[in-house]
Amino acid sequence: MTVLVIGATGNVGRQVAVQLAGHGLSVRALARRPEKADVPGGVDVVPGDLSDADSLRAALRGVDSVFLMWPLISGEPAEAIADAVAAGARRLVLLSSAAARRDSDDAISRVHRAVEKAIERTSLEWTFLQPHGFAANTLGWASQIRGDGVVRGAYGSVYSTLIHEADMAAVAVAALTSEGHAGAKYDLTGPAALTQVEQVRVIGEVIGRETRWEEVPRDVARERLLERIPAEYADAMLDAYARLAGGEPDRPTTTVEDVTGVPARTFAQWVADHAAEFKGR
Ligand SMILES: NC(=O)c1ccc[n+]([C@@H]2O[C@H](COP(=O)([O-])OP(=O)(O)OC[C@H]3O[C@@H](n4cnc5c(N)ncnc54)[C@H](OP(=O)(O)O)[C@@H]3O)[C@@H](O)[C@H]2O)c1
Repeated sequence: MTVLVIGATGNVGRQVAVQLAGHGLSVRALARRPEKADVPGGVDVVPGDLSDADSLRAALRGVDSVFLMWPLISGEPAEAIADAVAAGARRLVLLSSAAARRDSDDAISRVHRAVEKAIERTSLEWTFLQPHGFAANTLGWASQIRGDGVVRGAYGSVYSTLIHEADMAAVAVAALTSEGHAGAKYDLTGPAALTQVEQVRVIGEVIGRETRWEEVPRDVARERLLERIPAEYADAMLDAYARLAGGEPDRPTTTVEDVTGVPARTFAQWVADHAAEFKGR
């Protein structure tokens, strides 16, 4: 069985490639610049770009299943990509977002809904992963933690259920390699809800440094986010925090354990796996 992993140089896709290769499967990674792609050992690299469906045809030759994540701000190329995948492969696992379920017109919800719809209209056996916040989002705090240890942001009291990329990958691998996942939309979270203030404290405890949260106005937090992500995403993220601040907190699900048989990793485990990035040595 050959699996094409799209986004194998990224956070979740890399883990998917590692875990599939660990299962002894033949793994192909799509990369825009294959000569520069840093992918796990034992993984073949093939060229292709999601904004051009024709560029995927060679990459899809002989492939049974595809792991797809959607890095584009527009959902427009999604129908052509879904059709290209359906012409060659039988099964597709999409890294979507919990935002796809939200009744909202923000940029993140819109793009993920468009990609899901494009796939639903094909004959593919699809599975959608719909995660809430990634633990990896807190890497955006790494330079502040490495500096004076003070993380300046907005909505510090909002809870989120941060999930480890290895757990999303484990669910993806189960859906790619075993039966019973076709048509499933998995609501994925980490094992607990922590406020942003608590997340900063946990990082300090795990790396053995004094860290703390400092609340700043939303426009100041937005400026910082713009250093890392596009404005549409920064606004959607802050709106999501504002909504959570005024309403129901994010609640953990048991989906990771239900699908994989193994409990989701804690945020402290995730920090331990990424301690070097917070310590800077
Ligand atoms: N962060 C969150 O809290 C959260 C929550 C729910 C859902 N999500 C969703 O998760 C996804 C992000 O996943 P991630 O963190 O694993 O991604 P990531 O680390 O940002 O990696 C992005 C990947 O996309 C590849 N890529 C970019 N443009 C491409 C193109 N035109 N054609 C082919 N490949 C391309 C990159 O490859 P190269 O640059 O090497 O070419 C890289 O491998 C997004 O769809 C996001 O909306 C995120």
